[in-house]
Amino acid sequence: MPLTDWLLARSHWSTPVRSGVPLNRQLFDDIRDAILAGHLTGGTRLPPTRELARDLGIARNTVLYAYERLTDEGYTQTHGGSGTYVGYTAPDPALVASMVNVGQLGHPMLANDQARLSQRARELLANVGASDLQAGAFVPGIPDVGQFPRSVWQRLITKVWKTANAEQLGYGSRHGHPPLKRALAEYLTLARGVDCSPEQIIVTQGSHQAIDLCARLLADPGDQVWVEDPCYWGARSIFRAAGLKMDSLPVDQHGIQLPTSAGEPPRLIFVTPSHQYPSGVVMSLPRRRLLTELAQRHRAWIIEDDYDSEFRYQGVPLPSLQGLDPHHNTIYVGSFSKVLYPGLRLAFLIVPPELVDAFSVAQSELHRGGQLSVQAALAEFIADGHYAAHVRKMRKIYGERQVLLTKELQQQLGEEIDIVGTDTGLHLTVKLRQANDHLVSRCALAHGIVARPLSSYFACQQNTQNGLVLGYGGVSNEEIAPSVGKLAHAIQLVRSSS
Ligand SMILES: Cc1ncc(COP(=O)(O)O)c(C=O)c1O
Repeated sequence: MPLTDWLLARSHWSTPVRSGVPLNRQLFDDIRDAILAGHLTGGTRLPPTRELARDLGIARNTVLYAYERLTDEGYTQTHGGSGTYVGYTAPDPALVASMVNVGQLGHPMLANDQARLSQRARELLANVGASDLQAGAFVPGIPDVGQFPRSVWQRLITKVWKTANAEQLGYGSRHGHPPLKRALAEYLTLARGVDCSPEQIIVTQGSHQAIDLCARLLADPGDQVWVEDPCYWGARSIFRAAGLKMDSLPVDQHGIQLPTSAGEPPRLIFVTPSHQYPSGVVMSLPRRRLLTELAQRHRAWIIEDDYDSEFRYQGVPLPSLQGLDPHHNTIYVGSFSKVLYPGLRLAFLIVPPELVDAFSVAQSELHRGGQLSVQAALAEFIADGHYAAHVRKMRKIYGERQVLLTKELQQQLGEEIDIVGTDTGLHLTVKLRQANDHLVSRCALAHGIVARPLSSYFACQQNTQNGLVLGYGGVSNEEIAPSVGKLAHAIQLVRSSS
């Protein structure tokens, strides 16, 4: 779509109402958005200033000022007197973050607004990790929701609603619908080797809420939590907001590297042992043993985030750490986001028996529970075998996508990258040999591809790695090759301009 039409499609250019933001700033923002969203690709010529001013009904100086600023900030280039052209790499990370957040770049908050926020909120906003873009190539952690068995689900929801009693439409009192807990305990014992009774399960609205409960109930502000480096941004945000001190420990081919010397003991240890996020490393058995022994020695709780390990493509399925822990210090966090769909917002904790009451009461005090009718439908979905069947079906689909993506990456980018962490989950990681990952990420985004920079997941400079995290769960087979083509183009552009 030509730029003028794109701008006119935005209501503030087609109506006379204007916010308090100067027009030249609005125009700059909108053209920058168009570039970052890929509506204007590298090399596109912007309309002449006089023409755009006429079409939008604004002063030419306004356009001149916006164009100048775009050029100053590297979004566009001027070639002599021949006009203004969209550049190939977007500039400053903070500016990119203000449009589309692609990885720990901070959130756009006006300085005035920040003044009235808590310190905790300011720290949260300065370290935002979630992407605004949640679909398409190669957003990590997104399942193919088009494959979800809607008709079965619809039938179960309708059935539940026909008989839903007052209790099922209330808050609930046992922190999860008992039939769901029974179905889950049975399934997880077989599929994930967990050691639990249904009573140990606390249903939550997503893993974030589950991890947040652990942070609030098992540690106090200022307490130490060991996290993996690289680490899932969501866990970091939760621990930061809870006022915990994070000690970021490097990850090698066996998983988190644990300090054996004396130091401040942790209260919590957060790990992703079945599929380290985002590196893809699987924690070895000796490392698991060392971890459970150290946790026992320090009287620390281990939080095991088992977010996507149902999708394992090579080797035998790995049992959970929770089932292996002889000291029962491990709290298991599971989620339905990757197997079913993220918007369901259902996850669960498996806590040791002595924590059940505390977690149940706190969950009710802080979050109230509810969603029992959905839980009832899910209980039947699991008990009737639909869940296991869906896992089997999706494992095959994702396995094919992983092979296809790996093949395309090798063919189109073999000289530029090393691929790691392919045997589980919905994403893989590539290490970039030459090109800078933040630059590639921004340039790829300008071409409509999300490729999160691997370095943005690291807290310590000495551990950091240069690469990209590429999700393939929500990318159709047909999209894979052209999307890798766009990524290869972005890498080429970054390489040729550096
Ligand atoms: C490592 C990890 N843990 C947890 C989650 C979030 O799960 P939920 O949707 O249940 O909050 C994600 C989502 O991408 C993840 O990557």
